Amino acid sequence: MTEDIPLFRQYYSKETIVKIKTDIESCLNDSILMFGPRTEDLEKKFAGLIGVKHAISVNSCTTALTICLSYFEIQSRQILVPSASFITSVSSIEFAGGHPVLVDTKSDSLDLNIDDLEKKITPETKGVLWVHLLGHINKEYDRLKNICRKHGLFLLEDAAHALGSEINNMPAGCLGDAACFSFYPTKILSCGSGGMITTNNDDLADYAKQKRLFGWNHEKGLVDTYGNDWFLDEIRCSILLNHMNDLEYILANRKKLADYYTKYLKDCRRIKILMCDDSVKPSHYQYAVLLNPDIDRDHVIKVFKSKYKIAVKGIYRPCHEEPVFSHLINKDLHHTENVLNKSLCLPFYCGLTQNQQDRVISAILSEIENPS
Ligand SMILES: Cc1ncc(COP(=O)(O)O)c(C=O)c1O
Repeated sequence: MTEDIPLFRQYYSKETIVKIKTDIESCLNDSILMFGPRTEDLEKKFAGLIGVKHAISVNSCTTALTICLSYFEIQSRQILVPSASFITSVSSIEFAGGHPVLVDTKSDSLDLNIDDLEKKITPETKGVLWVHLLGHINKEYDRLKNICRKHGLFLLEDAAHALGSEINNMPAGCLGDAACFSFYPTKILSCGSGGMITTNNDDLADYAKQKRLFGWNHEKGLVDTYGNDWFLDEIRCSILLNHMNDLEYILANRKKLADYYTKYLKDCRRIKILMCDDSVKPSHYQYAVLLNPDIDRDHVIKVFKSKYKIAVKGIYRPCHEEPVFSHLINKDLHHTENVLNKSLCLPFYCGLTQNQQDRVISAILSEIENPS
């Protein structure tokens, strides 16, 4: 019987699972459930990986974004953010009291459209939330940095998809004033749910530590800002710390899988592979293609499921098409619509077999490239 091919599975090596089990048993036996040695080791190791002074663990990337945006005091100010992202890249701006201003992508890639971004800067603009969608870093990184410098804007990276991505050998997470990572189940590494802030800013690091524990100011011994229990507990820190040992293998495997798809799909006329510039080494968070405008994506998704037992899906709906953001101005976002609404993510995860990839490739060739 033909087996279903899912879109995604998380990967933990056998050794990692054994270590996690033993380590969690110690957490429970020693009753160390928060801010123990695993939190400390995880933050040190993560900061070292990204090459920054501070890594502050929190319970999700959405929390990380909200904390950073609050630090930048964005109340009633405008923040530029791509509409081509996950909903909480935009909603975290509203959680922190700011006004999201949606920016378009390029015509045929996931890159933020810097021309559109420049046009949308006003005296009310306070910063840019820069999303590395699917782990693709915008090749115009220097231009973006210069624009932020010129206008006095902060640059916050949403690196939820970009653990392991690099541009000119610099990792995502050290490219702006701060960055936020996600450890949600589908991400490159996961501890169930979790997030991390990376920064070289001592003040922001202290602020984040205060916010993640009810606003408690350790030095002064009092509470002088609102906060919540937003910390990452010791059990999840243990999972993540151990999972970091699999990172190199996971990234290498994802690259191998991506290269294999590309080898067999690059000459297709009715799809276009969403690639990065040569200066960028992506995390390969997902493998996505663009369908020709005449192809009905919903039909493709249905047929792949029913006829081939293969799960495929679009990247995200553009944020400005989500009802929750109907109050936002949605001007000049046509490239975002064209790219996201014609995008198709193929099954992609560490451990996908060549036989499964061949089934996906052959379904694309017979159903999309050469339909009868
Ligand atoms: C680009 C992006 N930013 C932020 C988030 C939020 O991450 P979390 O679920 O850890 O809050 C996600 C989640 O999928 C995402 O894809």
